[in-house]
Amino acid sequence: MSDLADRRHFLAASAAGTMIASGFHTSTATASSSSPNENLVCGVMGVNGRGSSLAKGFSRQKNVTVSHVCDVDSRAVLKGKSAVQSVTGKVPVGSADFRSLLDEKSIDILIVAAPNHWHGPASMLAMQAGKHVYVEKPCSHTPREGELMVENSEKYKRVCTMGSQRRSTAGHRAAIKKIHDGEIGKVLYAKCWYANRRGPIGKGKKVQVPDWLDFELWQGPCTEKPYKDNLVHYNWHWHWHWGNGELGNNGVHAIDVARWGMQVDYPTRVVSAGGRYRFDDDQETADTHLTSFEFGDRLLVWEGVSWSPKGNEGTAFGIAFHGDKGSLYLYDNKYEIYDMQRKLVLEEPFSFSDDPHFDDFLGCIRNGGKPNATIEEAHKSTLLCHLGNIAHRSGKAIQTDPANGRMKNGELQKFWTKEYRDGWEPTT
Ligand SMILES: NC(=O)c1ccc[n+]([C@@H]2O[C@H](COP(=O)([O-])OP(=O)(O)OC[C@H]3O[C@@H](n4cnc5c(N)ncnc54)[C@H](O)[C@@H]3O)[C@@H](O)[C@H]2O)c1
Repeated sequence: MSDLADRRHFLAASAAGTMIASGFHTSTATASSSSPNENLVCGVMGVNGRGSSLAKGFSRQKNVTVSHVCDVDSRAVLKGKSAVQSVTGKVPVGSADFRSLLDEKSIDILIVAAPNHWHGPASMLAMQAGKHVYVEKPCSHTPREGELMVENSEKYKRVCTMGSQRRSTAGHRAAIKKIHDGEIGKVLYAKCWYANRRGPIGKGKKVQVPDWLDFELWQGPCTEKPYKDNLVHYNWHWHWHWGNGELGNNGVHAIDVARWGMQVDYPTRVVSAGGRYRFDDDQETADTHLTSFEFGDRLLVWEGVSWSPKGNEGTAFGIAFHGDKGSLYLYDNKYEIYDMQRKLVLEEPFSFSDDPHFDDFLGCIRNGGKPNATIEEAHKSTLLCHLGNIAHRSGKAIQTDPANGRMKNGELQKFWTKEYRDGWEPTT
């Protein structure tokens, strides 16, 4: 067993031991038992881009301290520190190894904004160590990790939410309420989309790992691959080993809202079309992707085009709901309702901020209750992305069990999970 895996075992064992002794409440905050004004302490894992913005955002919340930022890139640690300092004037502790945050008793919440292959394993270890978790989307790298995330949240009674922030925005919530109130009738079809003008990532060269990066810990739970000079940062999204393509990147946001509006859980059938058409580079995931999810007699379609920015209806991101009495178009700054004569009958602009999502999560830790984006719902939406990608990679139509989203196609079971580095297999 490597030193890394050995330490992971030590932590898991010590955390479990403490939890048994104290009825799972190792942290200063416990769901539904904290006082409403109690200060909540956060550590952030992965602070290159999104993590620094979350560190800032959480620092702005009342009675919240971001005490630690952590990254395996020493340059990113500095970014994370100055993000917090710019809001509070105080410099958080910086570290390279998130397991030191799990050991830190004063930390109540782990915010996970490392790449996708870390989301499940780090969140689960955090819950096992008594921390509440704000994990970025997608909440898992594989379907099995998503199932285990739900089990961990239940077992350790930790609040675990996903960064699907539209679940908490007043404007998105108002639009979804219109749908649930029957304004456009029964929704039989929803189409959502994402468009961007991304460039090529080139063909990477195997080079020495730079001195600012702990690449062994960057890879963590994944089986080891050699370092290439076009992987870190962000481009891991386009490799199956670490990422989930555009579907698991921006698709999950729109699919989550579409599924919420349609009030559907697990699909019955998933098919996919598309490929990697635009650039001859190292990307493996589709840059042009249509994937459809049938829920019995209702259909949800996602369209992703990663190289052409126009999108549909003049927007890069949107969700169109079609009911038997009308249609609702939902964007990030407004929603519109059309009648069956194509006449615009309502247009409601709104502003979009992440703050309500942070507030909702913190409120659940302090006062009890379930977050707007429960890990159960986050798992269902993330699972749709996994199924869309499995359909794409296998070229097969997937038949699923609508009770739990599991695939009926025997030959596809290998995609349900993946191989982990020794000692890093996620558990409950
Ligand atoms: N909710 C949203 O709107 C939103 C927006 C952007 C990104 N995201 C999500 O946030 C995550 C991060 O995105 P990004 O664009 O910042 O990616 P990124 O690749 O730029 O940054 C990830 C950071 O995590 C670090 N990291 C890797 N392994 C680590 C480890 N073991 N411990 C600590 N740090 C580690 C990397 O060094 C890097 O600095 C992604 O999963 C992405 O899907 C969500």
